[in-house]
Amino acid sequence: MMNSSKPAYADYFGRLRGMPLYKEFIQNWHNVETFEARPDDLVIVTYPKSGTTWISEIVCMIYTEGDLEKCKKDAIFNRVPYLESKTENVINGVQQLKQMASPRIVKSHLPLELLPASFWEKNCKIIYVCRNAKDVVVSYYFFFLMVTVNPDPGSFQDFVEKFMDGEVPYGSWYKHTKSWWEKRKNPQVLFLFYEDMQENIRREVLKVVKFLGRKISEELLAKIIRHTSFQEMKNNPSTNYTTLPEEVMNHKVSPFMRKGVAGDWKNHFTVALNEKFDMHYKQQMKGSTLKPRTEI
Ligand code: A3P
Repeated sequence: MMNSSKPAYADYFGRLRGMPLYKEFIQNWHNVETFEARPDDLVIVTYPKSGTTWISEIVCMIYTEGDLEKCKKDAIFNRVPYLESKTENVINGVQQLKQMASPRIVKSHLPLELLPASFWEKNCKIIYVCRNAKDVVVSYYFFFLMVTVNPDPGSFQDFVEKFMDGEVPYGSWYKHTKSWWEKRKNPQVLFLFYEDMQENIRREVLKVVKFLGRKISEELLAKIIRHTSFQEMKNNPSTNYTTLPEEVMNHKVSPFMRKGVAGDWKNHFTVALNEKFDMHYKQQMKGSTLKPRTEI
């Protein structure tokens, strides 16, 4: 699976306030930092690989009242632009959002302290989805391999070490999730867990509906759950990222919609790596009440 044409890991990322991030995103940072929110913007925030696409499609379905035609009309990355993303002449999250009619759904992976102030000032609603660290690192590893321009992540063990050190884009999972967890009681924020969505999607969709101040029929709820199941989303070109060219993502290496389960880490962590990870995890999460489940 190694690809010798990939850039070297260490050269690939820059630093934004100490956090590793794609260099082009950093060059565009001023436009992100000064982004002007609109009061009816909804922001979906996650650490990468935590179920961003899943929650985005659920919200799209709620917003369109289950209009499949509207949801399938365009790829998820156009319906829910990725705020801080920027690549030369191709992606520009800020630009996309500026041109978008309200109400907008905005995707971001930014840690709490970097989310543009305007979203707080305009009292925008924010949904944060947290997924357990072990499944995130597995998902991130396969994602790293399939994103064609990403540097070679090395072996799984190497990548886990980088993840533990926060040497991956968006930095420390521990810091990211803990700081957003501290915001969970702020009425602007709805804090969800990927594992809870796996366990009882009906209950979690209803939480989102309530948070958005909407009402929903049983029929629409059933339709949303059906349409946003892993299998449906895996087979749907508007949610599975297959509309991007192979130079961007290579689904033959690993599909974007890979497994969609809780607990896949058990297939990838050795006993020794797991012990090491657990020890480090305990130190990093000391004093925090945040406890995502690692299986359901
Ligand atoms: P896996 O790699 O473990 O399969 P993100 O959208 O934040 O990049 O997260 C991607 C992860 O969410 C992938 O995890 C993907 O399979 C999973 N996912 C996407 N849609 C899902 C769904 N409808 N149900 C369950 N998991 C889903």
